[in-house]
Amino acid sequence: KYTRQYFLPPEPCFDWVHRDHLDHPPIWCSVDLRDGNQALIVPMNLEEKLAYFQLLVEIGFKEIEVGFPAASDTEFEFVRTLIERDLVPDDVTIQVLTQSRDHIIERTFEAIRGAKRAIVHLYNSTSVAQREQVFRADKGEIVNIAVTGAEQIRDLARTTPGNFFFQYSPESFTGTELDFALEICNAVLDVWQPAPDRKVIINLPATVELSMPHVYASQIEYMGKHLTHRDAVILSVHPHNDRGTGVAAAELAMLAGAERLEGTLFGNGERTGNVDIVTLALNLYSHGIDPGLDFSNLPAIQARVEALTKMQVSRRHPYAGELVFTAFSGSHQDAIAKGMKWREEKSPEHWTVPYLPIDPKDIGREYEGDIIRINSQSGKGGIGYVLEQSHGFDLPPKMREQLGYAVKRVSDREQKELSADEIAEIFMREFVNLGQPLDLVE
Ligand code: KIV
Ligand code: ZN
Repeated sequence: KYTRQYFLPPEPCFDWVHRDHLDHPPIWCSVDLRDGNQALIVPMNLEEKLAYFQLLVEIGFKEIEVGFPAASDTEFEFVRTLIERDLVPDDVTIQVLTQSRDHIIERTFEAIRGAKRAIVHLYNSTSVAQREQVFRADKGEIVNIAVTGAEQIRDLARTTPGNFFFQYSPESFTGTELDFALEICNAVLDVWQPAPDRKVIINLPATVELSMPHVYASQIEYMGKHLTHRDAVILSVHPHNDRGTGVAAAELAMLAGAERLEGTLFGNGERTGNVDIVTLALNLYSHGIDPGLDFSNLPAIQARVEALTKMQVSRRHPYAGELVFTAFSGSHQDAIAKGMKWREEKSPEHWTVPYLPIDPKDIGREYEGDIIRINSQSGKGGIGYVLEQSHGFDLPPKMREQLGYAVKRVSDREQKELSADEIAEIFMREFVNLGQPLDLVE
């Protein structure tokens, strides 16, 4: 039933496999307000979009796709509000999406009239499946759609007040033959005639993630090598996450030459979502590379995103999830406790605490006393560490062991996690014996 629906480059590539990490961040473009928003059960209203835009600016995004202004009155009004109320900082470029249809392009230019900096993002679908099943058009007709739209955009940009830049996406790129993707992108570039001081963005979306990440990356590498006007093109990627490998695909694509990346906060977006920019940025950060985005108070960002989108970030989500800086297993707890202590004593330059990929403090997460959660699986080391951190009792090894057994017994019987105060109560009961039977303890 299933067969390969994507296309490998005809020539060997993968020069980039010899690099083990990225050494600089891409140009980030948030598509939360367009791709993310269109995938919400109830899309954001004007006020919500304004609040979300403000959040993206605070995080440090310099390119923000703000919507598809011809698609609805709210989208149109939002773009007008940003421009008329002068809400876009001088160093931020807004981006608007348009299909290649006369009235839609005209309406798009009405929306961005007077913008200080706006990218007009033209797309049309190019894959074999879309050509055959949806458009019932041959390759020439599909190229014609792109070229006609590009020409209209070029002409309107000349006559409309504002400062406009251009972007083209062969939508469903991952299901498109590479020679055809090249042909259509090059045809659009010929219309727009980019220059090194007026670059054009060619954005290659994994509209549906169809392949393993290295295949997408090799497609990006191939396109980067063969596009015309290369020194005047910004090569951009737009991964979705259908196979659950959007982050890997994005990272390999950047190693393979992508210079710009479109994604969303926490990976909101159609189906399984767009690629998650928070994870990508913090992955860079964990390699010592400044991502240029400020996630130093990630819980506050998460709370605002959740309130505005009404979507919940998973408890296991990289970096952000409620449980990701928590250790339940005894041996993990013990190692973390020792790692923290070692860190206090030696003040090493780099972060090496076992089981914690980054210092939770760097992204505004709490770890003192909270990082280690105590239940029946916990170990004596973690239990002793929590008691020491919360109540200042540094127990000798024998006492730790006895307390460990007592705490695990209670947690097992009650089938619940225990707080630091409950551990202290058990400690008092075991060693101080005040004569008061505690609810938790037999
Ligand atoms: O996923 C996609 O292909 C898109 C395009 C409009 C860029 O969102
Ligand atoms: Zn998309």
